[in-house]
Amino acid sequence: MAPCAVRPILRLKGRVTFAGDKSIAHRAAILGALSAGVTRIENFPSNKDCLATLSCLKRLGVKINRDGASVKIYGRGLFGLKKPAGALFAAESGTTLRLLMGVLAGQPFTSKLAAARSLSRRPMRRVTLPLRKMGAVIRCKKRLPDLKEEYPPVAVTGASLRPITYRMPVASAQVKSAILLAGLYAKGETAVIEPFPTRDHTERMMRLFGARLKINKKRIIISGRRNLVSPAKFYVPGDISSAAFFIVAASVIPDSRIFVRNASLNPSRMGIIRTLKRMGAKINIKYQISPAKLSQGRRDPASYEYSGREKGISGEPIGEIEIRSSRLKGVTVKKKDIPSLIDELPVLMVAACFAGGKSVFEGVEELRVKETDRIRSMTENLKKMGADIRTLKAKGSEKIVIRGVTQLKGAEVKSFGDHRTAMSMAVAGLAAKGLTRIDDISCISKSFPGFLSILNTIKA
Ligand code: S3P
Repeated sequence: MAPCAVRPILRLKGRVTFAGDKSIAHRAAILGALSAGVTRIENFPSNKDCLATLSCLKRLGVKINRDGASVKIYGRGLFGLKKPAGALFAAESGTTLRLLMGVLAGQPFTSKLAAARSLSRRPMRRVTLPLRKMGAVIRCKKRLPDLKEEYPPVAVTGASLRPITYRMPVASAQVKSAILLAGLYAKGETAVIEPFPTRDHTERMMRLFGARLKINKKRIIISGRRNLVSPAKFYVPGDISSAAFFIVAASVIPDSRIFVRNASLNPSRMGIIRTLKRMGAKINIKYQISPAKLSQGRRDPASYEYSGREKGISGEPIGEIEIRSSRLKGVTVKKKDIPSLIDELPVLMVAACFAGGKSVFEGVEELRVKETDRIRSMTENLKKMGADIRTLKAKGSEKIVIRGVTQLKGAEVKSFGDHRTAMSMAVAGLAAKGLTRIDDISCISKSFPGFLSILNTIKA
């Protein structure tokens, strides 16, 4: 247990950069492993989730050298993975587990994926269903109360996969990516249709690694059995989901002004920025070229002027975000926009508490199956701090309604072992009146071990 006392601060000021984006880093490591050639990944984050992906890949026979944020992946090609000696351990990382299920579905061996406690309670049927349709044999654990759902550990016996066209019932980038990765092994074209667009890092990166991938409205089509080729260098842009805590904090704490450099500005992840802007936040964005490209000497950093939405060597737009504090107003976020800010919802709930008027977040039920039930964890905590929050259910969908209060007050709150609940409550505490105590913040290292040290560099 690592309790944390959070005291209100006067303002946030300064420039910050964040470790590489978690979602992008997982995918870069996996595609690096499945391609021909060596991939040098820069700005690889050292959070527990991404390290779990590296350790699973190592057990599948992939040579990996890591030196801080620089990671070298010695690709084994699409068909070069080895049967692991024991179970692969995904720790608490849903992305590791679900994406690797897609890869393992195409291997000529059986492998077992084990998970730590919180991940062992997260649903897997959304992935097992399409992968079984493709021909993989998968065994999972059943648990009460829902014996129809499936949970880790997962045993995957790969097969010679057949292509499918799959209409996804839930908007999930992890499910989409698992199917696309399995599609790399299928004979022919595998198509995935999303109910709403989710993060598109897999699609961008597959193209960068030479896969044949087409996008036709909501349909994403991957051609199987084509070898991947490493782009040799890959730069992971800063994690917008980590930046989100500071973006909200700087918006709601008076007299703040911060600059976030090298941030991933992928439109499918920018829901937090679009929503805060609609709430009246003062946010400016400048697209910038990646520092890796700058250091390759293609441009002179001193004379470089921002121009357009340039991409770094990740196929992702990168840029600088300037945030100044402002008086926020309530907002309504529709279900179709939820995937673009799914991980930022807890901290947006904090922002809504400080906004004038009513905020409504529609179609938020996926929050119930994250590392913890985040509707419950955030509602319970914020209510203790004096927030006005209700959750409503209608036709299998859920919404959160928050009425802004002028001031939250410090309270004793809980992380529920969930990193984003812990960091969102820290932001609430920084902006509240009085002392806030969080019972245990050790979970933060799952995604963002540098959270407190970055906070200490910009708080006043
Ligand atoms: C992720 C997708 C999202 C997100 C998670 C990372 C990814 O999960 O919440 O933190 O990297 O694909 P879902 O696919 O379950 O929505």
